[in-house]
Amino acid sequence: MCGIIGYIGPKKASQVILSGLQKVEYRGYDSAGMAVFDGSKVSVIKDAGKLGAIHAKHDFLKLEGGIGLGHTRWATHGLPCERNAHPHADCSGKVAVVHNGIIENHRALKEEMVKKGHHFSSDTDTEIVAHLVEQGMNDGRSAEAAVRAAVARLDGAYALGILIAGTNALYLARRHAPLIIGQGKAGEMFFSSDIPALLEYTRDFILLNEGDVARIDPRGAIVWGADGHEAKRETLHVDWTPQMAAKGGYEHFMLKEILEQPAALSSAVSADVSAALPILRASKQLALVACGTSYYAGLVFQYLMHRQGKPCAAYIGSEYSSWTTGQEDVLIAVSQSGETADTLGAVRLAKEKGAKIIAITNVVGSTLSREADVTLFIGVGPEVGVVATKSFTGQLCVLCKLAYTLGANKQGLADLKQIPSLSAKILEGKHADIQKLAKAFIKRRDFFFIARGINYPCALEAALKLKEITYLHAEAYPGGELKHGPLSMLEKGVPVIALAPAGPLAPKMESNIKECKAREAELVVLSDDEAMRAEGARSLLMPTVPPELVPLYYILPLQLLAYHMTVLADKDPDQPRNLAKSVTVE
Ligand code: AGP
Repeated sequence: MCGIIGYIGPKKASQVILSGLQKVEYRGYDSAGMAVFDGSKVSVIKDAGKLGAIHAKHDFLKLEGGIGLGHTRWATHGLPCERNAHPHADCSGKVAVVHNGIIENHRALKEEMVKKGHHFSSDTDTEIVAHLVEQGMNDGRSAEAAVRAAVARLDGAYALGILIAGTNALYLARRHAPLIIGQGKAGEMFFSSDIPALLEYTRDFILLNEGDVARIDPRGAIVWGADGHEAKRETLHVDWTPQMAAKGGYEHFMLKEILEQPAALSSAVSADVSAALPILRASKQLALVACGTSYYAGLVFQYLMHRQGKPCAAYIGSEYSSWTTGQEDVLIAVSQSGETADTLGAVRLAKEKGAKIIAITNVVGSTLSREADVTLFIGVGPEVGVVATKSFTGQLCVLCKLAYTLGANKQGLADLKQIPSLSAKILEGKHADIQKLAKAFIKRRDFFFIARGINYPCALEAALKLKEITYLHAEAYPGGELKHGPLSMLEKGVPVIALAPAGPLAPKMESNIKECKAREAELVVLSDDEAMRAEGARSLLMPTVPPELVPLYYILPLQLLAYHMTVLADKDPDQPRNLAKSVTVE
């Protein structure tokens, strides 16, 4: 997902924008740029590559002026290169546009503009917006009217920032992509795709609705709703501080966010779930929808609810439309960012059929939180690293609390209270062992994670963590499934990480471990059972934890394993290739 920053006010716009773009680098991107109006002309600097390198080559700060916008691009249309980097300009060079999302009807619009004599310089969908605005003004419309007319013609998803020379304003539009207005001190306004990008300047924001168009200038903001009428929008004061969104002395955001889980989870376990209870208690057919890591958290909830006799089918966001019968009357949507298009698409489909939506998210003001009937915030603070760590365990805390509250499970609720201290003990106690394990496995190419029952989603998440930042092959299987095929892939030295806590499933997990050892695989056993641990060539002694919280506790060392293997492989865990912090395209 692209990062967007805009500024208008007395400061040097290029400085504000550069600082803001540095804060959204974590999203992952392949090119970047900015446009600034200096009072007479719009100047653009953009290139392929990382922000620091582009700045070293071109010096963003040579751009003078108090109005500007900037962008980090995660390519959807057109290769990552200088001409496809944002901002994109019109023929006159007076209009500059940054965009996140996909304009689905850009080809037809481009043909129309070419017929009217416009020349295009990129392969992107975004550039069409600059030419539509230019054409609107050529047809005699005011800048504002030209922007609103241009946006009205767009299909698809867009968070747009538009700079027009001489207007002493910036224009915005959002539909199915996050965009927020920051209210600065007197005489300055901001916009961004991310709250953390603006925290050093403001904690006060104006939330835009789907289909809104807005104008910001030193006096403030005007917003027009999808119906074209001026509208008042919700304001938001966030408690996050710039420090919370900064690295705080850690080498990577990912390590910071792994190690701060004990503190972050003390907030998650105290989340108030009461608002969701009446809808859940009344639900006749309950379902859950989520993507990636959030889906694995949803699978744990599916196990818990099944056990307490209130089934809740967990669906992958992009699959929901293929599976739903429209009978679900309550849909739980789990999304750290609250901006994942696949999850939002499922939510909108369920709402069309009359379902009530319960959102579980980490971002206040996110699109999901504003489209849901009830929102439970996991409250783990900004998660800046691209890969989910504390948000996964935070989601598990809230989902377990929801299930235990619904089931009046006093012991379960008491167990949740131990999470901060026990997770701290594991993170502190296992870190050195994990670093040794990472060194031992750094040359391996294939990894298998096996577990059974409620622990299987943890194996899935551990495999995802490893593959998405080390780029190595990692798979997860229910322990009993190996013999139905995957066992053929095991050979001498292939690491198999087995999550095998003591309990009713332990004997069967022991058999699975032995099956792997018979193929000379290298076993790493995570268990609180000494005998089971002895089965592993390398093992981690885990504390005895409540069986239903094994996924939460056992993922902690496996997050660290993925992190340390990535760093040893000299890769950047915060900005894995091809990935974005929230995937706002379907
Ligand atoms: C996180 O490690 C994953 N890269 C990714 O699968 C993520 O969990 C998924 O895209 C869903 O994001 P969300 O929770 O913001 O909806």
